[in-house]
Amino acid sequence: MDTKPTVTILGTGYVGLTTAALTAMAGMKTYVVDPNQSRLDSVRSGKSFFYEEGLDPLVAEGVKHGLIVPTSSYEESVPESDIIISSVGTPDNPDGSSNLSYIFAAATEAAKYLKPTAIYVQKSTVPVGTGAKVKQIFRDAGITNAYVSNPEFLREGTALFDALWFDRVIVGGDDVLTLEKVLGLYRQIELSREAIAQLAGLSAPAAYSNGRYMMVKLESAELIKVTSNAFLTLKISFANSIALLSDNVGADILEVMDGTGADKRIGRAFLNAGRGYGGGCFPKDVSGLIAAGLENGVNLEIIRASQALNETMPGYVIEKLQDVLGGSGSLRGRTIAVLGLAFKAGTSDARRSSGVAIANTLIRQGAQVQAFDPKANQEAAETLDKKVVLAADIEHALDGADAVIVATDWPEFITYPAEKYAQQLTGTVLVDAMNRFDVQAVTNAGLHYIGIGRSVLR
Ligand code: NAD
Ligand code: UGA
Repeated sequence: MDTKPTVTILGTGYVGLTTAALTAMAGMKTYVVDPNQSRLDSVRSGKSFFYEEGLDPLVAEGVKHGLIVPTSSYEESVPESDIIISSVGTPDNPDGSSNLSYIFAAATEAAKYLKPTAIYVQKSTVPVGTGAKVKQIFRDAGITNAYVSNPEFLREGTALFDALWFDRVIVGGDDVLTLEKVLGLYRQIELSREAIAQLAGLSAPAAYSNGRYMMVKLESAELIKVTSNAFLTLKISFANSIALLSDNVGADILEVMDGTGADKRIGRAFLNAGRGYGGGCFPKDVSGLIAAGLENGVNLEIIRASQALNETMPGYVIEKLQDVLGGSGSLRGRTIAVLGLAFKAGTSDARRSSGVAIANTLIRQGAQVQAFDPKANQEAAETLDKKVVLAADIEHALDGADAVIVATDWPEFITYPAEKYAQQLTGTVLVDAMNRFDVQAVTNAGLHYIGIGRSVLR
């Protein structure tokens, strides 16, 4: 294979487009394939369909130089390509198991056009055992193309940063030369890292020791991905369980986790208690892992417990507000501002967002809700209760509200002065559902502060 392979990416979503921007900027001609015309049109106009820091300049440059080629046609893209990367969606089925219909449809369609030397790379998050099934699809189609699992570990909001300054690139399969070819694609990106970062306007982290390239068995690669996500959710739910206890015993969860996380064996990351995790991946990857466990005779009880606790956290936030407003039924007729509808700061993605869950629960409890997100108002509207009033900015959300719940730690919410919250609100309650405010500053502004696990007013 030439040092600069031609690449086709199946699925122009969050992962597919980010990956395409990187391969294109590393000089590889990259087709991005998707049946969704509006996503392709957005790429054609040099823009991403979602908000992600640094991505638009790369997409614009790639399209301008013909290095990113959007198409809905497998026939146009796959035959010419040396590496085909599948990054189609893997949502959950109603029973929590992974829906692999897009994975199998993409592989079946690609199998018609793969040249014999082309490598088929699975980047989508899939349950262990999926690779074996795709290989069977290839055998049934009479082809013997190489198949590699290459899971993705980027986070939304810091996608390019995570991909450029990666911890590890994992490739799983049974042929070392094939795995080395796939790693070669990442080595090309690493070689172009400085130029890509400059174009994206990103700075290197203060401390970075080179990421690892790891070759493993196919099944191990598949399991590494979901294990990593499940472990991160265990950390979050663990912090949330200790937060519940902290609320009842006078401890401050931030101090507890700072002290606990200072032990290098534990680490401080992902021990931030609050309204629980959401997003297009953690919830479905956790339920997918539980289902895969059951299918293979293993009851992953520890992960079930963590999942169950997470589902209670948005309700816990509301309970705490209710306590302060006068107990059960006290939300009826109140106006509550909800700031933050994206599932986390830095993205327009509102899939399985805790902010949306909080807003919808408040409506069910008879409150009026005024919500605002700097990037996710439009996307959140799809899952928000129609009674939620979407505000154009922070001030309109706070206007006339009895209380505010800050559900996502966008910088503009966290740095908005406590005095201004106090001025804009009609009431006096600030719920810090991500524990990001200074309790003293909020209290000094005359507001009731409610955190999660910070033992204030509980
Ligand atoms: P997404 O829903 O944004 O994108 C998937 C895209 O695939 C959609 O645009 C859809 O139209 C397209 N598609 C569906 N069927 C297709 C087909 N047969 N051929 C071509 N395109 C097709 O999903 P995403 O968030 O980018 O996630 C993709 C995968 O990557 C998932 O398995 C996810 O778990 C995993 N992942 C996501 C992230 C993340 O931060 N979003 C991070 C790591 C891993
Ligand atoms: C997560 C993983 O971090 C990525 O490594 C992985 O690639 C990705 O899922 C995926 O497989 O899709 P992402 O969902 O983009 O990335 O965002 P995170 O930063 O992990 O946050 C997920 C959720 O957990 C958010 O709702 C966030 O607010 C919440 N969270 C995170 C906490 O509540 N506490 C924490 O300490 C950390």
